[in-house]
Amino acid sequence: MGKLTITGHRGAGGLAPENTLASIQLALDLGVDRIEIDVQQTKDNVIIVLHDRTLRRTTNGFGFVKLMDYSELQKLSAGVKFNRVYIDEKIPTLAEVIELIDGKAELIIETKYSYLYYPNIERHILNVIKSKNAIDWCKIISFNDRALFRIHKLNENIRTGKLFVGKHASLPLSFDKGINFKPLRRYHFVDEIIVQHKYATQAIIDKVHEFGQELHVWTVNDPETIELLIKRGVDGIISDYPNLLLKYR
Ligand code: G3P
Ligand code: CA
Repeated sequence: MGKLTITGHRGAGGLAPENTLASIQLALDLGVDRIEIDVQQTKDNVIIVLHDRTLRRTTNGFGFVKLMDYSELQKLSAGVKFNRVYIDEKIPTLAEVIELIDGKAELIIETKYSYLYYPNIERHILNVIKSKNAIDWCKIISFNDRALFRIHKLNENIRTGKLFVGKHASLPLSFDKGINFKPLRRYHFVDEIIVQHKYATQAIIDKVHEFGQELHVWTVNDPETIELLIKRGVDGIISDYPNLLLKYR
């Protein structure tokens, strides 16, 4: 069994407001190996760090990100809904996050929507990474196949990961029934497979390893499940509380 890779989810999203610089700084201070963030795109094509495509849940604004310019988003607080002490936290840009991390941890950038929703988002993400010379320590992950294939086509050097969840989990789950797992070969170019933790069976973990890829699990926040998955041999765990994982590596 190799070393367990620890990924802070949305920075350290259980300990500080998710996807903010404060959350990312906290994950860095804890000494995580990797930091996961989510990105969206503004009307004026700025890649910002936010989980939802709308503002309501995590900021004091509302509406769709894609209909707003970056200057409008800068006026909002991305921390006040977590705790008033974070009222000054803004929605960061991907560029700001890359500057803050500066290679001290690997950056895992999740894009949920393809170019069909956000014009040219894959190209814009890659351009930010390239402009910061960060390609060696960034990885782009997605549930969205269109986005993944497009990223790979635009730049074969950027490392990528495929996420599975919900109905898509039927694909890896079928391994257990001895059904066809060939569809996974569609993702031969990705470096890692990331599954929701409840679907990380021994059979799936072994199969992904057979393909020479890493298997990471999201989002695991309780010690019992952490220990079970470590025993099964996952390569990495993504957690809102990365502090819980530190003792296992
Ligand atoms: O890292 C994968 C995980 O973040 C996917 O789910 O909804 O938290 O972005 P979500
Ligand atoms: Ca995510």
